[in-house]
Amino acid sequence: MIDPTRVRAALAERQDNFSLPQPFYTDEAFHRLDLDAVFNDEWLFACNSCELREPGDYLTLEIGATSVLVLRDMDGEIRAFFNTCRHRGSRICLEEKGHAHRLTCPYHQWVYDLDGALLHARQMPAGFEREGYGLRAVHVEIVCGMVYICLAATPPDITRFRDAVTPYLAPHQPWRTKVAASVTMIEEANWKLVIENNRECYHCAANHPELLATLVEFALPDDPAGSRDFRLLMEAQAAKWDRHGLPHLPADGGDEFRCIRLPFHRGAVSFTPDGSPACGKLLGELTDPDLGSVRMFRVPNNWNHFLADHIIHFRILPLSATRTVLRTTWLVHEDAVEGVDYDVDTLTSVWNATNAQDARLAANNQLGVGSLGYAPGPYAPSEFMLRNFTNWYARKLASHLDGAHGQRSIALKVSNG
Ligand code: FES
Ligand code: FE
Repeated sequence: MIDPTRVRAALAERQDNFSLPQPFYTDEAFHRLDLDAVFNDEWLFACNSCELREPGDYLTLEIGATSVLVLRDMDGEIRAFFNTCRHRGSRICLEEKGHAHRLTCPYHQWVYDLDGALLHARQMPAGFEREGYGLRAVHVEIVCGMVYICLAATPPDITRFRDAVTPYLAPHQPWRTKVAASVTMIEEANWKLVIENNRECYHCAANHPELLATLVEFALPDDPAGSRDFRLLMEAQAAKWDRHGLPHLPADGGDEFRCIRLPFHRGAVSFTPDGSPACGKLLGELTDPDLGSVRMFRVPNNWNHFLADHIIHFRILPLSATRTVLRTTWLVHEDAVEGVDYDVDTLTSVWNATNAQDARLAANNQLGVGSLGYAPGPYAPSEFMLRNFTNWYARKLASHLDGAHGQRSIALKVSNG
């Protein structure tokens, strides 16, 4: 365990509105602290509920050394469990995705129901009480079809987030979708550098030609850096969104989340090379393909775009101090037909290119941050979201050190069916 004095010294050294001191980005002991203080304590985006369409569908994800199993049970409810057998601790589901009506541990074949109850434990003696050995549950919350999980025994309140983002997301009916494509890539960078890179578009003009063909690089409707043309576009689109009853002004997410609807460039309606729709079948009951995009971000591991014709979820999880896994999932209406309504290459090419460019930027950032020559540098005004993020992160660590969350390291709720 890391010496708290070292962490407090690094936090004290941190300057507001500057990038973080080096160890936060490079040191494996700080990485383990991030797992404890942030990833084992916060709500994490796992997947869209459509990825668990049928009872028995499951997926797994790794949060540090902890594998979590997210599944749909026979009653249609989405549940999550530690993917660790209650016999001697083997991992149970070894694949990233699968389908099963019972969960059988590969080691000695203890069998669990999808509600976590232990059904069979062969050769155990008479009197063995299976009820005490159900899978340990992980908290689950569904927000407009997005599945969030939390490992903490007492999770932080998610109500404010849910209430704030639902009016923006619900018109897109993210729960009535299907996965059109999913890409997993490893970024050679600390997870905070991946988030910082994602939270600003200061780098976009020089690095993202495909993205900027359609995306407006300004982050606020009244962005001081915005051109006159942007302001006129924003006014016209905002008036239209008002007519549709679609919220668009920034939600009050503080440092924890952000939700806002912003337009595409004039003439563009979607993240395609030429701005034309990516999917002919619009989401939910939407009828206008030109709704811009709801950009929703939530600490610590999720950002998204909700368009009229598709949704993109981005999920990161840290692998080490200097490696992060990014999973990007493109969703279209559940009834959309590939080859008729959409083409996967057209749907994914802009963000595949953008992700590859961002991965290079973040890896270069990591290399420079690891150098003897690194010193924290000042954020530009357009990097205001990095200030929000690093302030949130510093508070999270400080509160962890103060013990506010120390007692809720893992959930120990046992499922008895
Ligand atoms: Fe799972 Fe033995 S460790 S059955
Ligand atoms: Fe980028």
